[in-house]
Amino acid sequence: MPQRLPLFRAARLVGISRGTLQRRIHDEGIDTFEGQILVDDLVKLFPHTPLEQDSEYERVQHIKKHAFAKRVRERLMPSAEVLAARVAELGRELAATRAHLSLYQTILEQITLRLREAGENPSKKEVHGLLHWIKGILAEPPAPSDPRKDLFVNDTVLRIMAAHVKIQPSNHEFWLEGNDSLLDAGVRAGLALNYGCTSGSCGLCKARVISGEVKKIRHHDYVLSEAEKNMNYILMCSCTAVSDVVLEALEASSEADIPFQEISTRVKRIERPSNDMLLLHLQTPRVQRLRFLAGQSVHLSLGNSTGAELPIASCPCDDRNLLFHIPCTKDSAFCAAVNNLKKGDPVTVTGPEGQFLLNEDSQRGQIYIAYGAGFAPVKSIIEHAMALELPSEMDLYWIVDKEDELYLHNLCRSWDDALENFNYHPRVNRDALETLLSTPETLRKRDVYLAGPEDRVLSASERLLAAGLPPGQLKSCILSPV
Ligand code: FES
Repeated sequence: MPQRLPLFRAARLVGISRGTLQRRIHDEGIDTFEGQILVDDLVKLFPHTPLEQDSEYERVQHIKKHAFAKRVRERLMPSAEVLAARVAELGRELAATRAHLSLYQTILEQITLRLREAGENPSKKEVHGLLHWIKGILAEPPAPSDPRKDLFVNDTVLRIMAAHVKIQPSNHEFWLEGNDSLLDAGVRAGLALNYGCTSGSCGLCKARVISGEVKKIRHHDYVLSEAEKNMNYILMCSCTAVSDVVLEALEASSEADIPFQEISTRVKRIERPSNDMLLLHLQTPRVQRLRFLAGQSVHLSLGNSTGAELPIASCPCDDRNLLFHIPCTKDSAFCAAVNNLKKGDPVTVTGPEGQFLLNEDSQRGQIYIAYGAGFAPVKSIIEHAMALELPSEMDLYWIVDKEDELYLHNLCRSWDDALENFNYHPRVNRDALETLLSTPETLRKRDVYLAGPEDRVLSASERLLAAGLPPGQLKSCILSPV
């Protein structure tokens, strides 16, 4: 095991999110070098890391798994072939380590022998001292309570069960588990990778393997040219990682990189969490998923000339299962039409569009202010930030007129419970801005995301800007009436 570990791997080994580890490193004043931490520093920070603990990492994963449209993902074992390849690689490393150990043993024996010869002169006290020390060290078995032991075991298990993937030129990283394709694992980790069909036909997910070993997991119709094959190009939707891998791949950096799409989806289910709110769950076909960025909107058509523009409330990391929050008034024809939908009914989705997007490059913490159903695009962005494991502080102010308008109150509380850097502030019939405006210094250090009906958003924007929030740190989303 190396003396330094990349933070991404170190966090996984001690069972916490990368964001939490970054905060601990910052708080304890520990030095890192090029995104790596010394193993000894990691052990000092987390001296007790039992293998079987129900760690925070597991808790966060659990929350995320259930938060993201209740998508329950099987944690599949890697295939036998991939497991065999990984175990063989570990075997090669073990053999190399044994060879080194044997060499060191020989060197030590030689040193001992020579020192003993030189030490026959009784005046050479230091030589005797050194001899004594070498003898003692060689006789001593490794300490059973070596705090690095669990870390080494964790690292070995991790290397068998998951592969680490790094994307160039962005330096984004993610873990690939089981038999996931590189594309699925990357999208699930919150990366806006380039793709289309997800089934090996369009070629849009083409990427170049810079290092590491990948394996084809399904046939693809798209034909890579001989030149592309020679340059190590692969299709991410059709390959998995056998070892840790570095890829060169395209990622969307703005809404302009996301194509306009039209997808015929099916109703998966409809929930009614309160009297005036419907949650519409749609599912895309397996081979035509919706590419979008968190916070964007689409147009929904129900096929009877009824339609509406709605923000997507789910995370782009779950691109097949789309969620929409539909506020209902008694005059809303769209709401009435959705109310009559049944499981399996078709709904056409067109889009996406919108610039209410997370500033992923910002080091500032985020304040989310959601008025009523403005929670929908905010939820998508928060879940995306969670998938990316952003370390920055997140505060959610959900402002409603009546208690039952906090229609996903328990979900927000579960985020607050599970994530160290997330704070939930529900506000019923109260001016939440007062708290924020009372500390303008703090406000100016944050990015503010504001969503809701037009009058509330415009008035809040005006007050925030008047309090000194730089305009570049404010993003807003005005909901279209449905
Ligand atoms: S996404 Fe179309 S070939 Fe991979």
